[in-house]
Amino acid sequence: MRLQGKVAIVTGAVGDAGEAQARLFAREGAAVLLTDIRESEGRSLAADIAGLKNHTASFCTLDVTDEDAWGFAIKECVTRFGNLNVLVNNAGVIQSEPLLEITDQEWERVMAVNTKGVFLGTKHAIPAMKNAGGGSIINISSTSGLLAGGRGAAYGTSKGAIRTFTKYAAVQYSNDGIRSNSVHPGPFESEMIADILRSTVDKEASIARSPMGRLGKVEDVAYAALFLASDDSSYMTGSELVVDGGMTAQ
Ligand SMILES: NC(=O)c1ccc[n+]([C@@H]2O[C@H](COP(=O)([O-])OP(=O)(O)OC[C@H]3O[C@@H](n4cnc5c(N)ncnc54)[C@H](O)[C@@H]3O)[C@@H](O)[C@H]2O)c1
Repeated sequence: MRLQGKVAIVTGAVGDAGEAQARLFAREGAAVLLTDIRESEGRSLAADIAGLKNHTASFCTLDVTDEDAWGFAIKECVTRFGNLNVLVNNAGVIQSEPLLEITDQEWERVMAVNTKGVFLGTKHAIPAMKNAGGGSIINISSTSGLLAGGRGAAYGTSKGAIRTFTKYAAVQYSNDGIRSNSVHPGPFESEMIADILRSTVDKEASIARSPMGRLGKVEDVAYAALFLASDDSSYMTGSELVVDGGMTAQ
């Protein structure tokens, strides 16, 4: 068990990738605090995981854009599970209009969830991780944070900012035993891009960009997060783990 004795928070845990991370982390021995804005689904998912043999999980409502809610969630985590060792900043929202069609409000919304949410989570997790003697922060960015596309400038910018922010946290807190790394998935099957994948043309275009000839799966991202959460990656901080079937290698 790769996460035995560790306590983890996953944001956006009701979403497809977040659920896969929460299930895998709990299976690998972590006590997992699932968080999301979708309260009733979150509670039943956490109860489902907690009902499995040797699994520990609980739920706390958390809007990642709300600083007070972060303070509450971290406190809840330490009260329920005694510590905080791992934070996966996974919650995110998509944006796919062309640049000139992005409204001021849409830009602010995407930045608030995807970028400010990661900043607030990191800011509030670090003191708890210091108390725990160290920790691992995993920020789910995207290949859109590495390379530009024809649409989604706000989304890509928000994910590029995460990449840089991750390195600041890594440099400033490595002396405290806190590691911070970003994960950059290519497109994977999930509710977030379901509309895009419903179009056969767009789906085939996405698949065609991958040398492996397939889209990603939520498990591909979850195993990358597991590696970064575990002590197997203890010499990695400030790094970018790309999980895209070779899409950005070409
Ligand atoms: N799906 C893809 O192709 C893809 C590719 C690269 C990166 N990503 C990233 O992976 C992460 C997970 O995406 P997914 O595909 O599972 O999406 P998803 O839409 O299935 O899940 C996202 C979750 O985030 C939650 N959320 C939204 N706003 C929130 C807020 N303010 N506070 C807390 N939670 C909030 C939603 O309720 C949802 O449960 C995201 O950061 C996304 O940008 C996705």
